[in-house]
Amino acid sequence: MSQSIGIASDHGGKALKEKIQAFLKAEGWNVKDFGVPFDSQQSVDYPDYAAQLSREVANGSLHRGILVCGTGIGMCIAANKIQGIRAGLVWDEFTARMSRQHNDANILCLGERTLNHDRALDLVRIWLHTEFEGARHQQRLDKIKALEQ
Ligand code: RB5
Repeated sequence: MSQSIGIASDHGGKALKEKIQAFLKAEGWNVKDFGVPFDSQQSVDYPDYAAQLSREVANGSLHRGILVCGTGIGMCIAANKIQGIRAGLVWDEFTARMSRQHNDANILCLGERTLNHDRALDLVRIWLHTEFEGARHQQRLDKIKALEQ
């Protein structure tokens, strides 16, 4: 697999981001890192990172994206403000699978402070390898798309 995936975090998500990034590279993904750097001591604003990554997913430069903050909530709220983004906050195997099968989520949001980090890698794996089911779910996504107008 050589598709490109973006990853970004704020200061509250940088340790889990680092771990996911290493995992993705080992899996053969081409990873674009939007920061923050793991060794950064700065407190940053998560919407800045969510916006940069989300714009590249929305315009097709990146296949998908992963955003990490303390809870995943702020990143998810911010990412979903960008047209074309379907960001899903995921916290277990079921939500990881459903966010793909039913919602065709193109961005995965995770919380560094809410998840066991080894388990988070399992959620990433599920999310990456689960396909959208289409059919009745597509008409619902079309209605979400219409809300953007
Ligand atoms: C930063 O302290 C924290 O608010 C942020 O990482 C995130 O959890 C916001 O939703």
